[in-house]
Amino acid sequence: MNTYKKEGLLLKATNINLKYDTRQILRDVNFEIFDVVRPNILQGQVVSLIGRSGIGKTQLFRILAGLIEPTSGTVTIGLDQKPVKPGEVGVIPQNYILFNHRTIYNNLRIGLSNCGKPVSDKEAEDIIGNYAKKFELQDHLKKFPAQLSGGQRQRVSIIQQVLTGNKFILLDEPFSGLDPVMKDKVDELLLQISNMNEENTLIIVSHDIINTLALSDTAFILAGEKGKEGATITEVIDLMDLGFAWNPHIKADHHFQDLVIDIKSKI
Ligand SMILES: Nc1ncnc2c1ncn2[C@@H]1O[C@H](COP(=O)(O)OP(=O)(O)OP(=O)(O)O)[C@@H](O)[C@H]1O
Ligand SMILES: [Mg+2]
Repeated sequence: MNTYKKEGLLLKATNINLKYDTRQILRDVNFEIFDVVRPNILQGQVVSLIGRSGIGKTQLFRILAGLIEPTSGTVTIGLDQKPVKPGEVGVIPQNYILFNHRTIYNNLRIGLSNCGKPVSDKEAEDIIGNYAKKFELQDHLKKFPAQLSGGQRQRVSIIQQVLTGNKFILLDEPFSGLDPVMKDKVDELLLQISNMNEENTLIIVSHDIINTLALSDTAFILAGEKGKEGATITEVIDLMDLGFAWNPHIKADHHFQDLVIDIKSKI
């Protein structure tokens, strides 16, 4: 069994409600994300929000990023637990966007320009070069987004957010439209990013249960409850406790597969 501890509170969603007109989309959503600490390992957090299509994942995602205000409730982030402001949480939307008229290099340069401290051209070249090499984009830096595959564009979009220096990165459906090999590559990239800094926290919003759970240390199930309008967190799954976290071969484990089947029946 892996040893780990949960330390400082990094993100807290408190009594989030969202209504559109009279229709309740989210109801009393509450959850907390803690810094997971493991001995002698730089360990970030990967948390997933799982729920069926149309349940309200993207709306919750926008609230967590400070992009829309909930009807009521609060989101606080960081060890000092300040209310979230737009721009403080890196966002990789469901249809990730790059600047199409700029090269891949310049798209990544924009990420660095938004990191809050000046970065010289020479430093930028080194940093971007390193990331590009690590994530197999070195031959594509001079190209434009339209000249890349979907998976390549997605990697650029993820790295662009990492370069801004945001410790929280929200990813909405990062596996959609990718083939199985590409999904594994995105898995790898996300794990590497989460482990670059102790406070790095990825929040993955997805209905691709198996790929998302395989990466996660904690999963929140967003679902409806009988007789009540709006979705809420119906279950918290601690994959660390279950012994499923941080195992690159977990998708082949029968107990893990049983958990996936169980969750599918609940959403
Ligand atoms: N601006 C809006 N006005 C009114 N209703 C909205 C608005 N945006 C979203 N909704 C409704 O909120 C609900 C939740 O939508 P949301 O996009 O969060 O679903 P989702 O869980 O992300 O689905 P998917 O997995 O298909 O992306 C849907 O029923 C949708 O119709
Ligand atoms: Mg969505």
